[in-house]
Amino acid sequence: MTVDTPFMERGEIYLREPRESDVDGAWYAWLNDPEVTRYQDKGIFPNTREKQRAYMQSASSSSSDVLLAIVHRETGTHIGNVGLHDIDWVHRSAQLGIMIGSKDFWGRGYGRDVWNMITEYGFDRINLNRIYAWIIKENVPSLKAAEASGYKIVGEVPDYLYKNGVYYSAYYTNVLRDEFKRLE
Ligand SMILES: CC(C)(COP(=O)(O)OP(=O)(O)OC[C@H]1O[C@@H](n2cnc3c(N)ncnc32)[C@H](O)[C@@H]1OP(=O)(O)O)[C@@H](O)C(=O)NCCC(=O)NCCS
Repeated sequence: MTVDTPFMERGEIYLREPRESDVDGAWYAWLNDPEVTRYQDKGIFPNTREKQRAYMQSASSSSSDVLLAIVHRETGTHIGNVGLHDIDWVHRSAQLGIMIGSKDFWGRGYGRDVWNMITEYGFDRINLNRIYAWIIKENVPSLKAAEASGYKIVGEVPDYLYKNGVYYSAYYTNVLRDEFKRLE
């Protein structure tokens, strides 16, 4: 059995490195769940364990991505993933991505906490200056989680995402290092 060493922790949640066993669990299927991918550019083509494994291996070895697994401490359940992507080491920026794929764990404040943790990681550990996130306007929990960490809406893109016959508009949000709101 693999022993978990939390990479970062807060309250009922910790973050650790992603593993092959995560792929063999529920991870790949989250991307086939229309409710989970509702406001994301995912779930358009069917996902498979093989595709998910390839993504995990590529993101874990890439110098422009940091990918972490979100774990519920009490049950040891892998409930989602969070990451910084397209890391630009010159301009010191990156794009935040988050998915809590296990819907039983929605609405408990974990998204807000994890959003804060990965932003803290970006500023305190890899010395970023700016972190951004694209958020579909209807994705209220994401907008609230972003706002709680100090992200601001700096632009709006109409018809950003085409899903199930509908175009969705998106906000471009970002936070600069000195705007970051640290949560307890
Ligand atoms: C978006 C996501 C990360 C939010 O995580 P979560 O743990 O469900 O959200 P939280 O419980 O932390 O809630 C964050 C805020 O949204 C509010 N909220 C949660 N669910 C809500 C809902 N269904 N309707 C309205 N507000 C809601 C919470 O009250 C909280 O607001 P507060 O800080 O003012 O109290 C998670 O639902 C998810 O991964 N969804 C699928 C993938 C996705 O959309 N990723 C984000 C792409 S930008």
